[in-house]
Amino acid sequence: MKYDPLTRLLHLCVAAGVTLQLLTSLVMVTPKPGRLANGWFEIHENVGIGVLVAVAIYWMWVVARAARRADGGMLFPWFSRRRMADLRDDALGTLRDVARFKLPPDDEPRPLPAAVQGLGLLLVLFMAGTGTILAIGMAPDGAKSAPIHAVAELHETAAPLMWAYLVGHPLLGFLHQLAGHGSLSRMFGFRAAGTVSRRGPFV
Ligand code: HEM
Ligand code: HEM
Repeated sequence: MKYDPLTRLLHLCVAAGVTLQLLTSLVMVTPKPGRLANGWFEIHENVGIGVLVAVAIYWMWVVARAARRADGGMLFPWFSRRRMADLRDDALGTLRDVARFKLPPDDEPRPLPAAVQGLGLLLVLFMAGTGTILAIGMAPDGAKSAPIHAVAELHETAAPLMWAYLVGHPLLGFLHQLAGHGSLSRMFGFRAAGTVSRRGPFV
Protein backbone atom coordinates (compact mmCIF):
# COMPACT_ATOMS: atom_id res chain seq x y z
CA MET A 1 0.00 0.00 0.00
CA LYS A 2 1.17 3.48 -0.82
CA TYR A 3 1.04 5.99 2.07
CA ASP A 4 -0.15 9.49 1.18
CA PRO A 5 2.25 12.44 1.79
CA LEU A 6 0.33 13.76 4.84
CA THR A 7 0.42 10.35 6.54
CA ARG A 8 4.16 10.14 5.91
CA LEU A 9 4.78 13.66 7.23
CA LEU A 10 2.68 13.10 10.39
CA HIS A 11 4.29 9.70 10.98
CA LEU A 12 7.75 11.27 10.68
CA CYS A 13 6.84 14.04 13.18
CA VAL A 14 5.38 11.56 15.68
CA ALA A 15 8.25 9.06 15.29
CA ALA A 16 10.95 11.75 15.70
CA GLY A 17 9.04 13.49 18.52
CA VAL A 18 8.49 10.33 20.57
CA THR A 19 12.14 9.31 20.12
CA LEU A 20 13.23 12.74 21.40
CA GLN A 21 10.78 12.57 24.32
CA LEU A 22 12.08 9.21 25.49
CA LEU A 23 15.71 10.30 25.10
CA THR A 24 15.21 13.59 26.98
CA SER A 25 13.40 11.68 29.76
CA LEU A 26 16.70 9.88 30.42
CA VAL A 27 18.69 13.05 31.08
CA MET A 28 16.14 15.58 32.32
CA VAL A 29 15.92 16.71 35.93
CA THR A 30 12.28 17.34 36.87
CA PRO A 31 11.46 20.17 39.30
CA LYS A 32 10.61 19.34 42.90
CA PRO A 33 10.24 21.72 45.88
CA GLY A 34 13.87 22.52 46.68
CA ARG A 35 15.23 21.21 43.32
CA LEU A 36 15.43 23.13 40.04
CA ALA A 37 14.69 21.55 36.66
CA ASN A 38 17.39 21.45 33.99
CA GLY A 39 17.17 22.56 30.34
CA TRP A 40 16.30 19.04 29.12
CA PHE A 41 13.06 19.23 31.08
CA GLU A 42 12.06 22.37 29.19
CA ILE A 43 12.91 20.65 25.91
CA HIS A 44 10.76 17.68 27.05
CA GLU A 45 7.80 19.97 27.73
CA ASN A 46 8.12 21.96 24.48
CA VAL A 47 8.73 19.02 22.14
CA GLY A 48 5.93 17.19 24.01
CA ILE A 49 3.42 19.89 23.09
CA GLY A 50 4.57 19.57 19.46
CA VAL A 51 3.97 15.79 19.67
CA LEU A 52 0.47 16.42 21.10
CA VAL A 53 -0.38 18.68 18.14
CA ALA A 54 1.07 16.20 15.60
CA VAL A 55 -0.68 13.16 17.08
CA ALA A 56 -4.01 15.02 17.36
CA ILE A 57 -3.81 15.95 13.65
CA TYR A 58 -2.77 12.34 12.86
CA TRP A 59 -5.91 11.00 14.59
CA MET A 60 -8.13 13.49 12.72
CA TRP A 61 -6.48 12.37 9.49
CA VAL A 62 -7.05 8.70 10.41
CA VAL A 63 -10.78 9.44 10.86
CA ALA A 64 -10.93 11.38 7.56
CA ARG A 65 -9.14 8.52 5.74
CA ALA A 66 -11.50 5.95 7.29
CA ALA A 67 -14.45 7.75 5.73
CA ARG A 68 -12.84 7.57 2.26
CA ARG A 69 -11.09 4.18 2.09
CA ALA A 70 -12.32 0.63 2.67
CA ASP A 71 -9.17 -0.21 4.70
CA GLY A 72 -9.34 3.10 6.58
CA GLY A 73 -10.69 1.67 9.85
CA MET A 74 -7.94 -0.92 10.27
CA LEU A 75 -5.97 1.12 12.80
CA PHE A 76 -8.99 0.95 15.13
CA PRO A 77 -10.86 -2.35 14.64
CA TRP A 78 -12.11 -2.71 18.23
CA PHE A 79 -15.79 -1.88 17.69
CA SER A 80 -16.42 -3.71 14.40
CA ARG A 81 -17.41 -7.39 14.48
CA ARG A 82 -16.12 -7.96 10.92
CA ARG A 83 -12.80 -6.24 11.58
CA MET A 84 -12.33 -8.20 14.81
CA ALA A 85 -12.92 -11.47 12.89
CA ASP A 86 -10.32 -10.38 10.28
CA LEU A 87 -7.92 -9.48 13.09
CA ARG A 88 -8.34 -12.91 14.74
CA ASP A 89 -7.72 -14.70 11.40
CA ASP A 90 -4.62 -12.60 10.72
CA ALA A 91 -3.30 -13.18 14.28
CA LEU A 92 -3.71 -16.97 13.85
CA GLY A 93 -2.01 -16.84 10.42
CA THR A 94 0.85 -14.81 11.90
CA LEU A 95 1.25 -17.34 14.76
CA ARG A 96 1.48 -20.15 12.20
CA ASP A 97 4.12 -18.21 10.21
CA VAL A 98 6.14 -17.40 13.34
CA ALA A 99 6.05 -21.08 14.43
CA ARG A 100 7.66 -21.87 11.04
CA PHE A 101 10.23 -19.05 11.55
CA LYS A 102 8.71 -17.16 8.61
CA LEU A 103 7.85 -13.48 8.32
CA PRO A 104 4.17 -12.92 7.50
CA PRO A 105 3.56 -12.07 3.79
CA ASP A 106 3.72 -8.59 2.32
CA ASP A 107 0.04 -8.17 1.47
CA GLU A 108 -0.26 -4.87 3.40
CA PRO A 109 -2.36 -3.48 4.91
CA ARG A 110 -2.90 -6.45 7.25
CA PRO A 111 -5.24 -6.33 10.25
CA LEU A 112 -2.74 -7.38 12.97
CA PRO A 113 0.07 -4.86 12.24
CA ALA A 114 -2.51 -2.13 11.61
CA ALA A 115 -4.25 -2.78 14.96
CA VAL A 116 -0.91 -2.72 16.82
CA GLN A 117 0.11 0.50 15.03
CA GLY A 118 -3.22 2.03 16.04
CA LEU A 119 -2.53 1.09 19.67
CA GLY A 120 0.89 2.74 19.35
CA LEU A 121 -0.75 5.92 18.10
CA LEU A 122 -3.26 5.78 20.97
CA LEU A 123 -0.39 5.37 23.44
CA VAL A 124 1.31 8.50 22.05
CA LEU A 125 -1.95 10.43 22.51
CA PHE A 126 -2.14 9.19 26.11
CA MET A 127 1.51 10.12 26.87
CA ALA A 128 1.19 13.56 25.31
CA GLY A 129 -2.22 14.20 26.93
CA THR A 130 -1.12 13.22 30.44
CA GLY A 131 2.16 15.14 30.00
CA THR A 132 0.30 18.30 29.04
CA ILE A 133 -2.13 18.03 31.99
CA LEU A 134 0.91 17.54 34.20
CA ALA A 135 2.77 20.57 32.88
CA ILE A 136 -0.32 22.78 33.27
CA GLY A 137 -1.31 21.37 36.67
CA MET A 138 1.94 21.34 38.61
CA ALA A 139 3.32 24.37 40.41
CA PRO A 140 6.47 26.05 38.96
CA ASP A 141 8.49 24.56 41.86
CA GLY A 142 7.23 21.06 40.91
CA ALA A 143 4.71 20.70 43.79
CA LYS A 144 1.74 18.51 42.79
CA SER A 145 -1.80 18.15 44.17
CA ALA A 146 -3.08 14.56 44.68
CA PRO A 147 -4.86 14.38 41.25
CA ILE A 148 -1.83 15.82 39.43
CA HIS A 149 0.41 13.36 41.28
CA ALA A 150 -1.87 10.55 39.98
CA VAL A 151 -1.52 11.89 36.42
CA ALA A 152 2.29 11.91 36.85
CA GLU A 153 2.13 8.26 37.95
CA LEU A 154 0.07 7.38 34.83
CA HIS A 155 2.53 9.26 32.57
CA GLU A 156 5.51 7.42 34.08
CA THR A 157 3.79 4.01 34.19
CA ALA A 158 2.90 4.13 30.47
CA ALA A 159 6.46 5.14 29.46
CA PRO A 160 7.90 1.55 29.42
CA LEU A 161 5.11 0.56 26.98
CA MET A 162 6.17 3.47 24.76
CA TRP A 163 9.79 2.25 24.91
CA ALA A 164 8.68 -1.29 23.99
CA TYR A 165 6.69 0.05 21.03
CA LEU A 166 9.54 2.28 19.86
CA VAL A 167 11.90 -0.73 19.83
CA GLY A 168 9.53 -3.40 18.47
CA HIS A 169 7.72 -1.50 15.71
CA PRO A 170 10.79 -0.13 13.84
CA LEU A 171 12.57 -3.49 14.30
CA LEU A 172 9.74 -5.24 12.44
CA GLY A 173 9.88 -2.49 9.80
CA PHE A 174 13.61 -3.20 9.28
CA LEU A 175 13.04 -6.99 9.14
CA HIS A 176 10.32 -6.57 6.50
CA GLN A 177 12.58 -4.20 4.57
CA LEU A 178 15.43 -6.72 4.64
CA ALA A 179 13.01 -9.40 3.42
CA GLY A 180 12.37 -7.18 0.38
CA HIS A 181 8.84 -6.12 1.43
CA GLY A 182 9.67 -2.41 1.10
CA SER A 183 8.09 -1.33 4.43
CA LEU A 184 10.58 1.46 5.20
CA SER A 185 10.56 2.58 1.58
CA ARG A 186 6.80 3.02 1.43
CA MET A 187 6.66 4.86 4.75
CA PHE A 188 9.78 7.05 4.46
CA GLY A 189 9.68 7.21 0.66
CA PHE A 190 13.37 6.94 -0.16
CA ARG A 191 12.33 4.91 -3.21
CA ALA A 192 9.16 4.97 -5.30
CA ALA A 193 6.62 4.21 -2.58
CA GLY A 194 4.84 0.89 -2.56
CA THR A 195 7.05 -0.88 -5.07
CA VAL A 196 8.96 -3.95 -3.97
CA SER A 197 12.47 -4.41 -5.19
CA ARG A 198 13.47 -7.72 -6.72
CA ARG A 199 17.16 -6.74 -6.49
CA GLY A 200 17.53 -6.20 -2.77
CA PRO A 201 16.07 -4.56 0.31
CA PHE A 202 17.35 -1.00 -0.13
CA VAL A 203 17.51 -0.58 -3.88
C1 HEM B 1 4.91 11.02 23.59
C2 HEM B 1 5.14 11.94 24.42
C3 HEM B 1 5.86 11.78 25.74
C4 HEM B 1 6.69 10.79 26.22
C5 HEM B 1 7.12 9.51 25.51
C6 HEM B 1 7.11 11.17 27.56
C7 HEM B 1 7.95 10.44 28.40
C8 HEM B 1 8.21 10.75 29.73
C9 HEM B 1 8.93 9.92 30.66
C10 HEM B 1 9.56 8.58 30.31
C11 HEM B 1 8.94 10.55 31.86
C12 HEM B 1 9.54 10.02 33.18
C13 HEM B 1 10.84 10.64 33.53
C14 HEM B 1 11.32 10.19 34.90
O1 HEM B 1 10.78 9.24 35.44
O2 HEM B 1 12.28 10.79 35.35
C15 HEM B 1 8.26 11.80 31.71
C16 HEM B 1 8.08 12.73 32.70
C17 HEM B 1 7.48 13.95 32.53
N1 HEM B 1 6.92 14.43 31.34
FE1 HEM B 1 6.73 13.40 29.61
N2 HEM B 1 6.54 12.38 27.86
C18 HEM B 1 5.77 12.78 26.77
C19 HEM B 1 5.05 13.96 26.63
C20 HEM B 1 5.04 14.97 27.57
C21 HEM B 1 4.38 16.26 27.41
C22 HEM B 1 3.50 16.67 26.21
C23 HEM B 1 4.63 16.96 28.52
C24 HEM B 1 4.23 18.38 28.85
C25 HEM B 1 3.97 19.32 28.03
C26 HEM B 1 5.40 16.14 29.41
C27 HEM B 1 5.80 16.50 30.69
C28 HEM B 1 6.41 15.68 31.60
C29 HEM B 1 6.64 16.04 32.97
C30 HEM B 1 6.18 17.34 33.64
C31 HEM B 1 7.31 14.96 33.57
C32 HEM B 1 7.79 14.86 35.02
C33 HEM B 1 6.83 14.13 35.86
C34 HEM B 1 7.18 14.26 37.33
O3 HEM B 1 7.54 15.35 37.78
O4 HEM B 1 7.07 13.25 38.00
N3 HEM B 1 5.64 14.93 28.80
N4 HEM B 1 7.82 11.88 30.39
C1 HEM C 1 6.34 5.78 18.59
C2 HEM C 1 6.35 6.27 17.42
C3 HEM C 1 5.63 5.65 16.25
C4 HEM C 1 4.29 5.48 16.08
C5 HEM C 1 3.17 5.84 17.03
C6 HEM C 1 4.12 4.84 14.78
C7 HEM C 1 2.89 4.53 14.22
C8 HEM C 1 2.72 4.00 12.97
C9 HEM C 1 1.44 3.86 12.31
C10 HEM C 1 0.10 4.29 12.90
C11 HEM C 1 1.67 3.29 11.10
C12 HEM C 1 0.61 2.98 10.03
C13 HEM C 1 0.52 4.15 9.10
C14 HEM C 1 -0.90 4.58 8.84
O1 HEM C 1 -1.72 3.76 8.39
O2 HEM C 1 -1.19 5.78 9.12
C15 HEM C 1 3.10 3.06 10.98
C16 HEM C 1 3.73 2.49 9.90
C17 HEM C 1 5.10 2.35 9.82
N1 HEM C 1 6.05 2.77 10.73
FE1 HEM C 1 5.70 3.70 12.46
N2 HEM C 1 5.35 4.64 14.21
C18 HEM C 1 6.30 5.13 15.09
C19 HEM C 1 7.66 5.13 14.92
C20 HEM C 1 8.33 4.56 13.84
C21 HEM C 1 9.76 4.54 13.68
C22 HEM C 1 10.81 5.19 14.62
C23 HEM C 1 10.00 3.87 12.54
C24 HEM C 1 11.40 3.68 12.02
C25 HEM C 1 11.89 2.81 11.35
C26 HEM C 1 8.72 3.45 11.98
C27 HEM C 1 8.51 2.72 10.83
C28 HEM C 1 7.30 2.45 10.24
C29 HEM C 1 7.15 1.76 8.96
C30 HEM C 1 8.27 1.21 8.10
C31 HEM C 1 5.78 1.70 8.69
C32 HEM C 1 5.10 1.08 7.45
C33 HEM C 1 4.79 -0.35 7.71
C34 HEM C 1 4.36 -1.05 6.43
O3 HEM C 1 3.50 -0.54 5.72
O4 HEM C 1 4.94 -2.10 6.16
N3 HEM C 1 7.72 3.90 12.81
N4 HEM C 1 3.71 3.52 12.14
